Amino acid sequence: MVIAQIGQSLDGQVATATGQSKYINHAGGLKHLHALRAWADAVVVGVGSVVADDTKLTVRLVEGTNPMRVVLDPNGRVPSQATLLNDRAAKTVVMTARQATDLSLPPHVTVAPMALDDSGRLSPLLVLQWLEQAGCQRVLVEGGPATIAGFMTTNSIDYLHFLSSAMLLGAGTPGVIRPPLSQLAQAQRFRMQAYQLDEDMLIECDLKALI
Ligand SMILES: NC(=O)c1ccc[n+]([C@@H]2O[C@H](COP(=O)([O-])OP(=O)(O)OC[C@H]3O[C@@H](n4cnc5c(N)ncnc54)[C@H](OP(=O)(O)O)[C@@H]3O)[C@@H](O)[C@H]2O)c1
Repeated sequence: MVIAQIGQSLDGQVATATGQSKYINHAGGLKHLHALRAWADAVVVGVGSVVADDTKLTVRLVEGTNPMRVVLDPNGRVPSQATLLNDRAAKTVVMTARQATDLSLPPHVTVAPMALDDSGRLSPLLVLQWLEQAGCQRVLVEGGPATIAGFMTTNSIDYLHFLSSAMLLGAGTPGVIRPPLSQLAQAQRFRMQAYQLDEDMLIECDLKALI
């Protein structure tokens, strides 16, 4: 089971035009994000999120165990001083196409060498296969937009959780990256449910339940 989450403004931005992203969501949305981390065996982010936010990916706002943390970093860009590489709060894995010896990572961090696919990316299907072999059945793809887009392209996400905050940012970083459509009829429609989470709204999209 794979759940992806996007914490966004009502107009679909995950950061301002100057890159500020902490925090778009209020307490209700943030608590839900931490509950998703507690649900997950593994949480996956792209290296862009680590560089932008120094994200910890730990469970702090609810009771629960920290998931395995996985950074998709084909080019070895993750900063060696990143908190998640150094806090020893959970098993941490860097999936990369670089040689482990090229990366200056702390020795307790697991380096998972991955081949690149024809488009020069890490295949989300191979990422999930690796995680399954590591005993991870429940995976949270926490972001950012490029990472979620890759998982959507391979139809690898079961549920997409939009955590919408009642604010409008006008411009910034769009949370969803999809190829443009010329015909409205090409757009896939799917089932969704909405839940109020204090000031935020959770919209749960069942991407496998097409209508
Ligand atoms: N509000 C939220 O829910 C949320 C969550 C996370 C992040 N964010 C925001 O999102 C912004 C960062 O966006 P982003 O799209 O750059 O972040 P990202 O998805 O975390 O990182 C993107 C980078 O990760 C690597 N990557 C991800 N998937 C890959 C794949 N399948 N194959 C190969 N490489 C892969 C690539 O690295 P290379 O460039 O080295 O190829 C790619 O450029 C920041 O402003 C951050 O604050 C918001």
